[in-house]
Amino acid sequence: MDHAATGEQALAQIAAAQDLGALETLRVAFLGKQGSISGLLKTLGAMSPDERQRIGPQIHALRESVTEALAARKDALESAALALRLASETVDLTLPAPEAPRGSIHPVSQVMDELAEIFADMGFSVATGPEIEDDWHNFTALNIPESHPARAMHDTFYFPDKDGDGRAMLLRTHTSPVQIRAMLDQGAPIRIIAPGRVYRSDSDATHTPMFHQIEGLVIDRGIHLGHLKWTLETFLKAFFERDDIVLRLRPSYFPFTEPSVEVDVGYARDNGAVGGSGDEPGRGWMEVLGSGMVNRKVIAAGGLDPDEWQGFAFGTGVDRLAKLKYGMEDLRAFFDGDARWNRHYGFNPNDVPTLSGGVGTAA
Ligand code: DAH
Repeated sequence: MDHAATGEQALAQIAAAQDLGALETLRVAFLGKQGSISGLLKTLGAMSPDERQRIGPQIHALRESVTEALAARKDALESAALALRLASETVDLTLPAPEAPRGSIHPVSQVMDELAEIFADMGFSVATGPEIEDDWHNFTALNIPESHPARAMHDTFYFPDKDGDGRAMLLRTHTSPVQIRAMLDQGAPIRIIAPGRVYRSDSDATHTPMFHQIEGLVIDRGIHLGHLKWTLETFLKAFFERDDIVLRLRPSYFPFTEPSVEVDVGYARDNGAVGGSGDEPGRGWMEVLGSGMVNRKVIAAGGLDPDEWQGFAFGTGVDRLAKLKYGMEDLRAFFDGDARWNRHYGFNPNDVPTLSGGVGTAA
């Protein structure tokens, strides 16, 4: 058999293969398990040593040249295919870019980010607690005992079953239980804010069954009402981005603070703009926060000695703050998930609130 002729023929076939499929068929025909060259290799075993010494190198050389030719042809076919694709797939760079779909940050998320940024600057960290709470953290530890009318006022969603410790389980009605959890977890001193979802069985234009609150808690030695007032004033000025915010502190009552104050800000009745005193004609006071000095009983429930540690706390609705600052009318629309609403009121995800850049740069 003339292996040189076989080789020439094979190389010619390979050179003539027009596509990768045809080339693969040839590879199988020559080098596959049943291939002709594989068949030749198998004949070596039956040869005499002499014959094998003479013919063996020829067959091996044949296999090598065919293998190389296959690889070279494969390369050539592939680059030809690539060249063809590059030539046909052109991009017209003069066309206008299609409008990129853009998500937007929900005003509630935006305001929470703004609050975290403002309070971080004052040394507060963000604490969280569970939305499924027990009645001890949500009520009892906050000085709202079982028979207290505040329990009824909170329109609580209860779960049918109690937890392992026999505590009634509920959806937290406010973020105040995070005060207790922070004291028990961290000890003192403490400087935290706790934003999150809260739940009450209530629904109309200004109430939704789920809404957002933010809680603040400072525990340290020698804390007094002046610290509270300064902190809230600094916070509200940063949040509303104006220096003329005027606060009015009104005596109030919350079971977990003593004394308790409600905080109003002055605003203009014609356009709702916050700022200035509320006492002049055409102006009014708007309640924005509940707060007070943390009740001794609450400090004790948090595992701290109220003779050593004092503190102040505050709480407010995040959704309401968003409404006040950005002027939405109906609270229910916040939670409808209507993309058009969010496009209108939402914020550019690339605009991260910073104190230096303005915490509330609108989209
Ligand atoms: N937890 C109160 C509520 O949901 C708000 C509140 C008032 C929180 C006074 C406080 C506070 O921390 O001191 O209505």
